[in-house]
Amino acid sequence: MIILGIETSCDETAAAVVTDAREIRADVVLSQIADHTPYGGVVPEVAARAHLEHLDGLIRRAMEDAGIGFADLDAVAATGGPGLIGGVIVGVMTAKAIAAARNLPFVAVNHLEGHALTARLTDDVAFPYLLLLVSGGHCQLLVVEGVGKYRRLGTTIDDAVGEAFDKTAKLIGLGYPGGPQVEKAAAAATNPDRFELPRPMVGRPGCDFSFSGLKAAVRRLVEDLPKPLSEADQADLAAAFQNTVAAVMADRVKRAIRAFKEAHPEGSTLVVAGGVAANKVLRARLDALAAKEGMRFVAPPLRLCTDNAAMIAWAGLERFRLGQSDGLDFAPRPRWPLDPTAKPAIGRPDVGSGVKA
Ligand code: KG4
Ligand code: ZN
Repeated sequence: MIILGIETSCDETAAAVVTDAREIRADVVLSQIADHTPYGGVVPEVAARAHLEHLDGLIRRAMEDAGIGFADLDAVAATGGPGLIGGVIVGVMTAKAIAAARNLPFVAVNHLEGHALTARLTDDVAFPYLLLLVSGGHCQLLVVEGVGKYRRLGTTIDDAVGEAFDKTAKLIGLGYPGGPQVEKAAAAATNPDRFELPRPMVGRPGCDFSFSGLKAAVRRLVEDLPKPLSEADQADLAAAFQNTVAAVMADRVKRAIRAFKEAHPEGSTLVVAGGVAANKVLRARLDALAAKEGMRFVAPPLRLCTDNAAMIAWAGLERFRLGQSDGLDFAPRPRWPLDPTAKPAIGRPDVGSGVKA
């Protein structure tokens, strides 16, 4: 079985070809970072236009890289949401057009399910597993029970963690996107323990997260320092922020591991997914925690953590081989929660309901 996947829900235009033998035959990603940098963040209209301009060329390249023609495909998958709706429409319409022209099944994929199932593509992880999904729009702990079967243990009550990285980067004068820049600056810190930050939610019951207080604390520290910030100040602040996030994550994930083991004594894997999973300090911290708790730790390779189309092709394939596909009347969804039964988090109903930043 061989599937073409398309991803256009945020600021990466991507196309990939994946097989049911867990083989990535092609995987091309075009980042729009340069288009959005002047604005300090993603501009939806700019993103949609860029997807429209580049998507067909990227699909052509992916098909060439895979060495196949449309006639060789078994299905076409595209991100159907959640995300910036203009971009999602571009991807969905393109996939539908290929499906209609070639008489192929079309599979609409939940972008979050793409992240969630990546560990099955890369490491053949069996259900059930515990998933920490950390991206620009999300910070959730989920039990992955099967394809389309998710139970949310916790979510953020305010900012997503990637959002916190991006905002912190802005506060301390680092560029966009913030996560990689904060990580780079923190690695150069000479005095990483110089600043102390609050650790929101640590020790509290449940598995929810909160990051807005942390961001406010960084802002107060910045206010008291001479401007523009020196590189040393930037580095020490970045390290303080990153270490605090890692500590908060470890506390929340530890609680989730306990809850997961209670519900699923047969489960033994902790998976981290989403753009923030590219952070090496966070990965190391989770790796150590998993080892201590007797869990296997799986983190996909960096390029499969941030947005890509291989994960969309794979999630589409997982659904398709279970006999699932979508009609050409599928309507792109700006919101699409993985666990529709989960109650919205207090204070930030949009985050829990599957919206993407
Ligand atoms: O999954 P993703 O590529 O897009 C969304 O679906 O949101 O995640 C993007 C987020 C951004 O907030 C970015 O700053 C963050 O992931 N990110 C990182 C790192 N690389 C990307 N955060 C921390 N450390 C990193 N190395
Ligand atoms: Zn994503």
